[in-house]
Amino acid sequence: MAQWHNLEESMKRMSDRKISLTLNGREISETVEPRLHLADFLRHTLGATGTHLGCEHGVCGACTVNVDGEAIRSCLMFAVQADGKNIITIEGISNTDGTLHPIQEAFRHHHGLQCGFCTSGMIITLDAFLKKHPNPTEVEIRSAISGNICRCTGYQSIVAAALEAAGNLKKQEV
Ligand code: FES
Ligand code: FES
Repeated sequence: MAQWHNLEESMKRMSDRKISLTLNGREISETVEPRLHLADFLRHTLGATGTHLGCEHGVCGACTVNVDGEAIRSCLMFAVQADGKNIITIEGISNTDGTLHPIQEAFRHHHGLQCGFCTSGMIITLDAFLKKHPNPTEVEIRSAISGNICRCTGYQSIVAAALEAAGNLKKQEV
């Protein structure tokens, strides 16, 4: 029995892969099992627990992180696929002086969260969306977050926050 266990362990070690990536501006190198998904890697290996896991099969959007500028469901991506990528999670979204990002500030202002379980995924999704669509309509915002499920807010306050954030982000650019 112990032999089987040792064999299993050494086979597992043989298939492990070394990956390097940037997480919220910090360079990281780790050895990971090929089957480990990115969300578990972020949460369990790196301690970035602001990324939440709901469905774990690509439906709820709670696990959304930014990978090289795109909002990605981290439960559908393996950690090994993040090799060489630049990843931003909710822990890395605030301003460098520690103040809230304009989207976070707008969520606070409009009460865009209740339990907060969906919020990190919502904010990461909206951040990627607003960078590409700085003048969104309400319909476009609703479409952008249509893959992010919120069980609490009814979405009204989230949409209001997103519209306000879009306006404030534009003002920042001027
Ligand atoms: S946990 Fe990834 S989409 Fe639900
Ligand atoms: S605030 Fe509770 S799920 Fe969205």
